[in-house]
Amino acid sequence: MAGNQVAAGEERGMMANSEWVESWALGNTGFHFDKHDPYLDEHEEEIFGDEPKNVFVPLCGKSKDMIWMHGRGHTVVGVEIAEQPIRELFQEHDIPHQVLEVAGVGKLYKSNDERLLLYAADIFDISESLVGKFNVIWDMKSIVAINVADRIKYRDLLLSVLYRDGVYYVGALEFDSSVWAGPPHTMDRKAIEDLFPECLVELIDEMNVTGRTLSTLKSEEKMVEFNDAGLALKSSPYLYARTYKMKFK
Ligand SMILES: C[S@@+](CC[C@H](N)C(=O)[O-])C[C@H]1O[C@@H](n2cnc3c(N)ncnc32)[C@H](O)[C@@H]1O
Repeated sequence: MAGNQVAAGEERGMMANSEWVESWALGNTGFHFDKHDPYLDEHEEEIFGDEPKNVFVPLCGKSKDMIWMHGRGHTVVGVEIAEQPIRELFQEHDIPHQVLEVAGVGKLYKSNDERLLLYAADIFDISESLVGKFNVIWDMKSIVAINVADRIKYRDLLLSVLYRDGVYYVGALEFDSSVWAGPPHTMDRKAIEDLFPECLVELIDEMNVTGRTLSTLKSEEKMVEFNDAGLALKSSPYLYARTYKMKFK
């Protein structure tokens, strides 16, 4: 992610939409994985049951998870501020599609089978009246990318598009925020529970990915200014990646 060393003041860890677009243009996308999340294979039936579902993927980047879900017959709606990853995803996977202008929102990349719909838009310009309701929300480290000041607005939007019996999967990181101001922003279980008081929060996966401490970083890495989230997070004395499953109470 773009440079966001720990800084003082209100702007701490904030990132503007234009900076995300720039990150994609510069290839500063350490958060992107070239493979889909293996959790999907391992827990397919539990997540999706045995019928095709409507899945919402906020801040989707060009996540391979969406290709996997689309390939398994689900309808996937994603939102991503940068058009580049959306365009690339359709090109890289040779998915026949059309590009539509959505007034006041942005562009919609729509597969010809109408089951992969990715909006190049600000998530806060999306509404239930535009995208409808979903059985599953797949929020993998998107919640930790949102500016902290926008979290409540983000929560309200996502819960407004979730069916009453829908399931919200959310991936979050917990680390020592003194090493990195964000994004990503640290969120422990309490932060998730406090943000979603109307939901039951179940921890379903936890990985202790505590990396090397500063003292064990290779000397050339130490020389690098911490303008890279991945490297900065490795210097945190603790680093956990957790996935939660949330349902309305
Ligand atoms: C940490 S990445 C997560 C990407 C994706 N969930 C994944 O697993 O690869 C956050 C993404 O959100 C996008 N983004 C940030 N702010 C946004 C906003 N307000 N609306 C839509 N997308 C946004 C960024 O461009 C970036 O691709």
